[in-house]
Amino acid sequence: MKKGIFITFEGPDGSGKTTVSKGVYNKCLEMGIDVIYTREPGGIEIAEEIRKIILDPKNVTMDSKTEALLYAASRRQHLVEKVKPALDEGKIVLCDRFVDSSLAYQGCGRHLGIDEVWSINNFAIEGFMPTKTIYLDISAEEGLKRIESREFKDRLDQETTQFHIDVQQGYKQIVEKFKDRMVIVDASKTVDEVIDEATKRVLEIIHAQG
Ligand code: TMP
Repeated sequence: MKKGIFITFEGPDGSGKTTVSKGVYNKCLEMGIDVIYTREPGGIEIAEEIRKIILDPKNVTMDSKTEALLYAASRRQHLVEKVKPALDEGKIVLCDRFVDSSLAYQGCGRHLGIDEVWSINNFAIEGFMPTKTIYLDISAEEGLKRIESREFKDRLDQETTQFHIDVQQGYKQIVEKFKDRMVIVDASKTVDEVIDEATKRVLEIIHAQG
């Protein structure tokens, strides 16, 4: 049976990742590709419930390790309940965020350490990694400007400027560490240009997998 392809989208807040990944999804649908779109944290009921807890601005006392464990828990459930079954059916799975987000945000933004965060996540994902990851590259300044203009800011959007700079630095390390998996797309261009470029790269990944 043909196995599916797991493609994740990553980038700091303000990189336009959600708009771009949804745009790519719609273009794939128009081309008749057997694709699903999902997101982390969330994508299924249990994980969406966990998402609400993590991102609720009133949860100011949440400990960093608790936060990391909740992301890993939601990831586990989403992987076994939605991602793996879809891949087993031969679908292309486009997922807005995956484990790299935890390495950047909790590992570097919260200073828990990339290796520490990797170890709790590996318990959750058992070494299961995306085929490829589209990384939306944006400067810390531009990303921060875009976050500032948001009407509703969730608990992580409300973090300090330094937190977002540390996340961005974290992503730089992760892109380097996993360079064979990473496909870098310049996210500073217009939304349409970024969607076109990301779609092109996704089609290349699909064709390369045969
Ligand atoms: P979103 O805005 O892309 O939907 O993601 C929600 C927030 O959760 C965003 O600020 C990034 C953050 N996040 C982490 O800190 N760790 C993770 O593992 C994931 C998946 C998201």
